[in-house]
Amino acid sequence: MAYFEWAEDMAIDHGPIDEDHKKLVEHVNQLHTATSDGQGQEIVARLLNDLLHETVEHTHQEERQMQALGYPLLEEHKKGHVQFIADLHTLQTKLAAGSTTVASQLSTLLRDWLSVHIRRYDKDLLRFTENKEREKRRAAHAARVAGR
Ligand SMILES: [Fe+2]
Ligand SMILES: [Fe+2]
Repeated sequence: MAYFEWAEDMAIDHGPIDEDHKKLVEHVNQLHTATSDGQGQEIVARLLNDLLHETVEHTHQEERQMQALGYPLLEEHKKGHVQFIADLHTLQTKLAAGSTTVASQLSTLLRDWLSVHIRRYDKDLLRFTENKEREKRRAAHAARVAGR
């Protein structure tokens, strides 16, 4: 069993957002393997660096998608992304300074943050789009009834 398992209750759009999240989950697993195997600082640093880039790309993409959908909590959501990326930068700095505790805590922090953020905050986008669809259907139905 993987350290961090993708689960169906993390699905948001069955599209690009989920694909990104799955990749991030996979990379957290790689980082976990590298740190628990006691692999060198260089490898851990490189994996963290890749993950950071991927996170930045993913959050931007997600924000663009939220904007396109008219998601009302976008600004608040962005703050969460900015904070997470800042935390990753802090960890990167600590790791570069030779902190071994950071390396062992890294995958736990990443797994916990991602799992909570996806399930609680990213998933809110799904609830929003589902409500929008429901309203559209209701309005279409009302228009049909009124037109009778
Ligand atoms: Fe996300
Ligand atoms: Fe997000």
